Amino acid sequence: MTDARRPKGVSALRALISLDDWPLAQIRRVLRRAAAWKAAFKRARGESEFGRMAEDKGTTGAFSKWDEMRFERTVGRRTVALAFFEPSTRTRLSFELAAKRLGADVVDLDVGRSSVQKGEDIAETLATLEAMGAEAIVVRTTIDDLRPYGEALQRAALVSAGAGMAEHPTQALLDVLTMLEAFGSLEGKTVAVIGDVRHSRVAASHLRLLPRLGARLVLAGPPALLEREDGRSATAIRAPSVDEAIEAADAVIVLRLQKERLTAVDRAMLGGDVDRFLARYLERYGLSAPRAARLKPSGLILHPGPVWPDVEIARAVFDDPRARIRVQVENGVFVRMAVLAEALAISSPEEEAGSAVPAACSETGDGRAPVGVERAPHYT
Ligand code: CP
Repeated sequence: MTDARRPKGVSALRALISLDDWPLAQIRRVLRRAAAWKAAFKRARGESEFGRMAEDKGTTGAFSKWDEMRFERTVGRRTVALAFFEPSTRTRLSFELAAKRLGADVVDLDVGRSSVQKGEDIAETLATLEAMGAEAIVVRTTIDDLRPYGEALQRAALVSAGAGMAEHPTQALLDVLTMLEAFGSLEGKTVAVIGDVRHSRVAASHLRLLPRLGARLVLAGPPALLEREDGRSATAIRAPSVDEAIEAADAVIVLRLQKERLTAVDRAMLGGDVDRFLARYLERYGLSAPRAARLKPSGLILHPGPVWPDVEIARAVFDDPRARIRVQVENGVFVRMAVLAEALAISSPEEEAGSAVPAACSETGDGRAPVGVERAPHYT
């Protein structure tokens, strides 16, 4: 990230607008911390089912002292604001829970009852939240480019909760954590992303993140919905068919059909009659039960939600033991806790002493960990 693109008021690394801005070491710290908090949370509740990444891979070790601390003591009364200008269930509520579990005060802007209805724009709204003391502002918009808003803030870190069709960084992080719990590492794994790649900010973030973690990305779906205007779909392999993508995959991420983002051109490319296209979608491109049978037994099924049952995924596949849709939601809270810890510049005593970020996380100039380090299971 160039200096010219950095938010002026706060450290560039506190904000999360694009995963491109975060070094791999920071991404790994967030994933490790999320896994550690998940394990600590389950331990505190007396639950014995820990994710493999946390339990088997030794992930919790680096943060073990801090995991056991009361989060409020570390965080104090910090302030997080949520400003969702687009609807959300998972992201908004998990950010709220995440902030509360960190012991922060949370204000959640109700856009429908706010002065946005009187014409106040997004920049003014965010400046107002900052003036009230928000140190991290979690923002979802229909707008693709959040950088101007991040740069206009003086003290608060802007955290993207999904920006138009451009990026949904925390969704990609929680999907990665979900896959790491099963695989330990994504090095050499094939991840098939199926469906509306064209309009999906989730797909855009995966196109950025997964190759950095050593995964091979394969795209499949309706040809009219695979080409992204930002050109990023060209960086991934295009499977000849959805069936072949699924057969090759270690994990399948089925995308939400973004009906609300279809333009007149998109509709024409889908044959003009979108309802007819949707009526045949499951059979032609969706994860039907016969198609799920093509996925290897160790494969994973993910969907960012909200799911359109019997269109994108057959309802019966929800109960497939390989499905991780609810685990993704669960992991979202812990990933967002870890992202907010970055935004609020909270570091553990171990980190402050310089001992908690292992040498294995140091990066080479191209943002990739040194060869060999990528394979260290509990840091990938
Ligand atoms: N995956 C996701 O962003 O869901 P919500 O729109 O419900 O937040």
